[in-house]
Amino acid sequence: MYKLFFNLVFKRMDPEQAHYLAFRWIRLAARIPVLRTFVAAVLAPRHEELRTEAFGLRMHGPFGLAAGFDKNAVAIDGMSMLGFDHIEIGTVTGEAQSGNPKKRLFRLVQDRALINRMGFNNEGSAAVAERLAARRAVFRTTVGVNIGKTKVVAEADAAADYVKSTERLAAHADYLVVNVSSPNTPGLRNLQATESLRPLLTAVREAADRTVTERRVPLLVKIAPDLADEDVDAVADLAVELGLDGIIATNTTIAREGLGLKSDPALVKETGGLSGAPLKERSLEVLSRLYARVGDSITLVGVGGIENAEDAWQRILAGATLVQGYSAFIYQGPFWGRAIHKGLAARLAASPYATLAEAVGAETRKAVK
Ligand SMILES: Cc1cc2nc3c(=O)[nH]c(=O)nc-3n(C[C@H](O)[C@H](O)[C@H](O)COP(=O)(O)O)c2cc1C
Repeated sequence: MYKLFFNLVFKRMDPEQAHYLAFRWIRLAARIPVLRTFVAAVLAPRHEELRTEAFGLRMHGPFGLAAGFDKNAVAIDGMSMLGFDHIEIGTVTGEAQSGNPKKRLFRLVQDRALINRMGFNNEGSAAVAERLAARRAVFRTTVGVNIGKTKVVAEADAAADYVKSTERLAAHADYLVVNVSSPNTPGLRNLQATESLRPLLTAVREAADRTVTERRVPLLVKIAPDLADEDVDAVADLAVELGLDGIIATNTTIAREGLGLKSDPALVKETGGLSGAPLKERSLEVLSRLYARVGDSITLVGVGGIENAEDAWQRILAGATLVQGYSAFIYQGPFWGRAIHKGLAARLAASPYATLAEAVGAETRKAVK
């Protein structure tokens, strides 16, 4: 049904326009009480056995919306209504910015993938903080706030920009994510090097603690799949050393491996980050590597190419307490969250594990023994 609709309507539209259209419908539906209750009952039924705890936060389940879909925190209830157990808003930058020139989002339909070079288009930390402060939540959910560097800010001054966002946003965040892995802000990914990452994460941690004194805001870092294995290990060790709460693996990739046979080669050549099915293997590999390194000392969040419940289950077995998705939502539509939850509940029931928490990392533990 959705596939037909996608082919007839969305596929004929510019991808970014289609995104805003769908977004408008979701936000509208979430504003109508009877409709949103009905939609949530159908698309977001609760499975008690999938309840998850991550960095001290209790969630309805492990499956969240990855950053980039709701950059300005305008559709938290709408996305919650569609079955996402946590919503990561952003990336929000210190100052508002319009992002890269359009066209900047491309669909590689045959490869079930997207390429984007949005470039952190967002309203900026002050406006987003104001919106979050004024928000009256309809559905109880977990809101993560993903922060990044304003493009015009020099790499050397990055920490101050992240700190500015932290001071404005931490009070409204259930958890904070330092994004140093988007390929569309020049120089951003250099911040993943431990010499840069250590002072940056330390400054953000201190800013969060200074701003929010009544609780400790969990702090995570989101990394790129293009890091060399040794660099993945180095970030893992740093995260443990600094007492970080989690690592999100992974962002989009600049690689184009295995593409171009099915999708238009001209599209494959577009600059930007590739997401969706082609990212699956590397994201899973990075996650397993991280879990082998940090075990249960840090919470891992698996993202990249998750298309179905089996993919989500494999991430959990590899070491993810939480999983997230974005691209497959574009191709699979509003029933996606429901299908993931149903499939995860079935897999848990058929597994030797009594709880999801027990399943976390089980495969990686077996492999490293
Ligand atoms: C159009 C688009 C915009 C994105 N914007 C952001 C962003 O602002 N910040 C971020 O951390 N990740 C961003 N991402 C990356 C996703 O959060 C996710 O890490 C990546 O797409 C891999 O997951 P997927 O294969 O399920 O899409 C974006 C992805 C897409 C497709």
